Amino acid sequence: MFATYSQGIAGKVERMLTIRPEQPADREQVFQVNQQAFGQPDEARLVEALHRSPAFIPELSLVAVEYERVVGHILFSGVALRAETTLFEALALAPMAVLPARQRGGIGSALVARGLAEARHLGHSVFIVVGHPDYYPRFGFVRGEPFGIRPPFEVSPGAFMVLELQPNALSGMRGEVEYPPEFAEL
Ligand SMILES: CC(C)(COP(=O)(O)OP(=O)(O)OC[C@H]1O[C@@H](n2cnc3c(N)ncnc32)[C@H](O)[C@@H]1OP(=O)(O)O)[C@@H](O)C(=O)NCCC(=O)NCCS
Repeated sequence: MFATYSQGIAGKVERMLTIRPEQPADREQVFQVNQQAFGQPDEARLVEALHRSPAFIPELSLVAVEYERVVGHILFSGVALRAETTLFEALALAPMAVLPARQRGGIGSALVARGLAEARHLGHSVFIVVGHPDYYPRFGFVRGEPFGIRPPFEVSPGAFMVLELQPNALSGMRGEVEYPPEFAEL
């Protein structure tokens, strides 16, 4: 359940990064990481609220830890895709955050890779994300609209993306994403 990476920083200093499931004792640090990364408390409060949601999957709330300090966090929550009378299950990647001073060093990518591997292990195969169109395609995310999958709110062009971890997992899926109600507060 643990993944430890040795990171070369500027080719000189080696830092040890561990990715593991979040523990209750991490929650204050997880709040701080989200607040500092986003520059506002909204996403941190969303994470707090999701901890109490039925959509929360403890194995898929992961922290990146360096020298016992939480420097990054990622959360995948259960969502539904609603198409007329049919509901499809998927996971939403949201939010993810890395402390500003530690960004652009590969921690975010390590969290996504580990989270997707864990989710696949748990049997999940379809993911959605609303985020930077330049960032998520490197993990295999593609635009969601051509699949007939759409977010329940306006997003900037290319920001709504989907990923299938098994061939054809998206085939036949369509509909509007229903987020857990906690997201409505964001
Ligand atoms: C997005 C975030 C989690 C990425 O974490 P990270 O550790 O910096 O990511 P990595 O080091 O693995 O990857 C860095 C890449 O992310 C890209 N990236 C980071 N922030 C970005 C942004 N705001 N817009 C577009 N690309 C961004 C960089 O271009 C960089 O790409 P490069 O390696 O080709 O230069 C981090 O930048 C962060 O916490 N940002 C603030 C909160 C946020 O926006 N969360 C995501 C919401 S969708």
